[in-house]
Amino acid sequence: MAAHIGIIGAGQVGAAAAYLLSATPGIGDIVLVDLDEARAAGEAADIGHAAAFGSAARVQHGTYEDLEGAQVVVITAGASLKPGQTRLELLGQNIRIVGHIIESVLKVAPDTILLFATNPVDVMPAIAVRHFGIAPGRAIGTGCALDSIRFRDRLARYLEVAPSSVHASVLGEHGDSEVLHWSSAQIGGLPIIDFAQQIGRPIDAAMKAQIAEDVRTAAYRIKEGKGVSNFGIGGCIARLVRALALAENSVFSVSTYLPELLGVAETCISLPHVLGRGGASKPLLPPLDNVETEALKNSAEVLAGTIKAGMK
Ligand code: LAC
Repeated sequence: MAAHIGIIGAGQVGAAAAYLLSATPGIGDIVLVDLDEARAAGEAADIGHAAAFGSAARVQHGTYEDLEGAQVVVITAGASLKPGQTRLELLGQNIRIVGHIIESVLKVAPDTILLFATNPVDVMPAIAVRHFGIAPGRAIGTGCALDSIRFRDRLARYLEVAPSSVHASVLGEHGDSEVLHWSSAQIGGLPIIDFAQQIGRPIDAAMKAQIAEDVRTAAYRIKEGKGVSNFGIGGCIARLVRALALAENSVFSVSTYLPELLGVAETCISLPHVLGRGGASKPLLPPLDNVETEALKNSAEVLAGTIKAGMK
């Protein structure tokens, strides 16, 4: 049976997600919900015309009542990053918006999977679990799934290989304290540093630092250039919804609520999870070197503090 997906927020992120999802095989109905009904209607019609060129997806605008039976509901509504702002600084503006949305969604779709993209994205699953009693596996933040693709893309460009051949993840906060998991990165079964050495494009300490900075600041540069980042996160949402709605059991670095990690209580950070029917598996803790362990603990602490502030 084709999947029924809800997207809350018909802004640039929600519209990009709806457009990319409408081209995804196996997706049946996409319902766009926004306070600005005219905008939701316009985006749904426009995306529906694009889908009509070759997709079976039906794109419509609607209300919360139209989310009944949705396998996944994506939450994109809220203020987005302004130049010079960090994602954590959006907490005050967005936490109330997202809290009302969660309440409205659960009234009509109590068993759905919630996929959060609204920043600070790593706080939102904690709100769903702590305030609404949602099982952690059904409250998922897009987290570092987008940063992981940015990491793979950056490595692929430098090493001149296809991004699909690069296996590398980012863990922790979807933000400034994120952790590039260098020690597990590999291409063709070779550790990334060995691969780079053997093809004559070595990755020394300076290059590692440059790549990390490029990945960490990608969104800031995109916003400086075009004012918003929407296609990267839109593609990330579409890929994660496909894994969840089509029960793929694919593995992604996404964020879910954790009662404790590395001695840090009540946090929510990105770790590898299996995404399939019913949502996300328990988080998997990969082998980390000492630097990565300390950096991940720091990220967990940053987010535990932000969650505590958001719960007040
Ligand atoms: C970005 C936004 C989605 O990283 O946080 O592009």
